[in-house]
Amino acid sequence: MGARLVNTGERRSPLTPALSPEGRGSKAGGATLAQALAAAQRQGLPRLEAQMLLLHALGRATHERAWLIAHDGDALATDAAARFDALCARRLRGEPVAYLTGTKAFHGLTLQVDARVLDPRDDTETLVDWALELLPDDRPARVLDLGTGSGAIALALAAARPQAEVWAVDASADALAVAQANGQRLGLAVTWRHGDWLAPVAGQCFDLIVGNPPYIADGDPHLAALAHEPRQALASGPDGLRDLRAICAAAPAHLAPGGWLLLEHGHDQAGAVRALLQRAGLGPVQSRFDLAGIERCSGGQRAA
Ligand SMILES: C[S@@+](CC[C@H](N)C(=O)[O-])C[C@H]1O[C@@H](n2cnc3c(N)ncnc32)[C@H](O)[C@@H]1O
Repeated sequence: MGARLVNTGERRSPLTPALSPEGRGSKAGGATLAQALAAAQRQGLPRLEAQMLLLHALGRATHERAWLIAHDGDALATDAAARFDALCARRLRGEPVAYLTGTKAFHGLTLQVDARVLDPRDDTETLVDWALELLPDDRPARVLDLGTGSGAIALALAAARPQAEVWAVDASADALAVAQANGQRLGLAVTWRHGDWLAPVAGQCFDLIVGNPPYIADGDPHLAALAHEPRQALASGPDGLRDLRAICAAAPAHLAPGGWLLLEHGHDQAGAVRALLQRAGLGPVQSRFDLAGIERCSGGQRAA
């Protein structure tokens, strides 16, 4: 995020001057929705983000962009303008849109998210799609999601494979509370466990273990731009591989014969993770690309 998006220290939000010259946002003569959106974009917000924040300020669902387009000549009421202004200012200071609106669409589900959990990324749908290729849809299978956060992966798998028995682990009790609430609200059954990677599932075996662990190196400058998200969800030792190493060492003992371990990792970690999976005795080790063409996850299978 460029310097012009960072808080300038001014008390007034950067959007305020552009929304309306006088009597800002009043029903009569205030900025229209289209003008408010244009002002937000001039300040550096991508159009889609500005639309989602405006819809949220208006008390509407963030996917109702067609409504916004149909009403772009409507005047923005003063209270909604103030809410939009405040949301835009927070976004310009780096808070994820998902935290500001409280929701995130993930693999067809609407999850509730806040600063206790990682904002689920679209890239992680690559891992879910791969897991679904491996999971039968006509008979039960046991699945474990390591580092579940908001519950995104576990709940997407539970929704798509109703016969699967899905377990999920996280070391953060706060994250588990968010995940559990999402499960209840969506009516999806997952067995939630608190603790360190495989420790809470001692003695259990699974047909599929998936995980999107922290994988950013402690000193990586990108962490600064992610300061609103839990550090425990992001940073993983000096080379970013501490948690991937721990999982690759411990997970194979929890795989049923023929079971798979699939892990998301950083854009430049595929080779290192494939080596860890091979060293753990798994094969045929392979990687999958995300929509941007980056090797985003790697996995291997226990011999049958
Ligand atoms: C990158 S986030 C992934 C969240 C979610 N699965 C997703 O894809 O959006 C990593 C998660 O791993 C959890 N975590 C970190 N260290 C852990 C550990 N030692 N044992 C279990 N979970 C851990 C964090 O609390 C966080 O929720």
